[in-house]
Amino acid sequence: MSQRTLVLLKPDTVRRGLVGEVLGRFEAKGLSIVAMEFRTIDGETADQHYAEHVERDFYPPLRDFVTSGPLVALVLEGDEAIEVVRALNGATDGRKALPGTIRGDLSLSNRENLVHGSDSPESADREIKIWFPDLP
Ligand code: CMP
Repeated sequence: MSQRTLVLLKPDTVRRGLVGEVLGRFEAKGLSIVAMEFRTIDGETADQHYAEHVERDFYPPLRDFVTSGPLVALVLEGDEAIEVVRALNGATDGRKALPGTIRGDLSLSNRENLVHGSDSPESADREIKIWFPDLP
């Protein structure tokens, strides 16, 4: 079933010059880009996006990180896109993510893990509305 998912190429991806590498993996897999924007977000937008994490101990440094510079937000579309993107991304902790995944190949961090992908259809709907409210 075709799905849409919200993906962030976080500020570490931009700073490290890995936007092309990471985007290329999604495109090579066959996912379509249906929206994309390069932007720097404020703390309120971070709080909205990470609403389920705002009370967690790891959230204050995560908030500082995601607001620390420009990121790339995109909506990807394709068959089972939510699970496919999560598999391509790999485990949250780059030190534990399997080789062959984006995080497993390119990240050594639990926080600066390069990418975000929606974790369920409900999250995808919610997150796409936050980032791309005008997307038909
Ligand atoms: P993401 O997939 O965007 O979802 C929540 C983010 O919080 C996660 O990627 C990491 O960037 C960050 N995160 C999750 N768990 C931890 C943790 N234990 N310590 C630091 N950052 C974390």
